Amino acid sequence: MRRPVIAIDGPAGSGKSTVAKLVAQRLGFLYIDTGAMYRALTLKALRIKEDLNDEAKLGALARTTEIKLEQAGSSLKVYLDGEDVTSEIRSPEVTNNVKYIARAKPVRECMVAKQRKLGEEGGTVMEGRDIGTVVLPDADKKFYIDASFDIRVGRRHKELNGNGASLTEEEVRKDLKTRDESDFNRAIGPLKKADDAIAVDTTDLTIEGVVDKVLSIIKAL
Ligand code: DC
Repeated sequence: MRRPVIAIDGPAGSGKSTVAKLVAQRLGFLYIDTGAMYRALTLKALRIKEDLNDEAKLGALARTTEIKLEQAGSSLKVYLDGEDVTSEIRSPEVTNNVKYIARAKPVRECMVAKQRKLGEEGGTVMEGRDIGTVVLPDADKKFYIDASFDIRVGRRHKELNGNGASLTEEEVRKDLKTRDESDFNRAIGPLKKADDAIAVDTTDLTIEGVVDKVLSIIKAL
């Protein structure tokens, strides 16, 4: 029997990556972080100083770039043309420029095709912005993970400062606002709850609480 495919979407700082990773781990499923794929391509475009407004060139870059996700215990390693870029794709420079890559139609077409292939075997938890709406519209279960803006700012601030960055809460608030704007308002593949997705508000829940809730819904399949 084919194992289920789970789609998880939500805004930055909602806790969806942590939840998706833990859910995949508990089920023994493959975890696919599609944001990491957009980030890896952004890193390459920045390195070769590609014109970030030239969508055709970005599309060609997407088609000729090899991005691999590899499960390494509880973490996910990201390879860009064979090079481990797991840490580098989380840099502020990549985060600030990923919107150019994510809004380019030819890039999204290429990414969506790659992601569908990764998901088609079953036994996957795929996480992103357009998974339930565009990439895997027939997923067995879809979740939309959200939290209040203030809580998302607080979580992001804690996470970044835990990683050695020294950003004020106000700076994080501004960054998150900009990211939300580009995620929600993209012409193609914007962040949107699929009609058949189950909304989970994590504002007052612990990560473990969310994981348990998501798992119980999946197990009732
Ligand atoms: O999940 P993340 O924050 O690492 O994703 C980085 C960016 O990639 C996000 O701001 C928008 C883009 N993205 C996207 O456009 N579509 C996806 N399925 C996943 C991420």
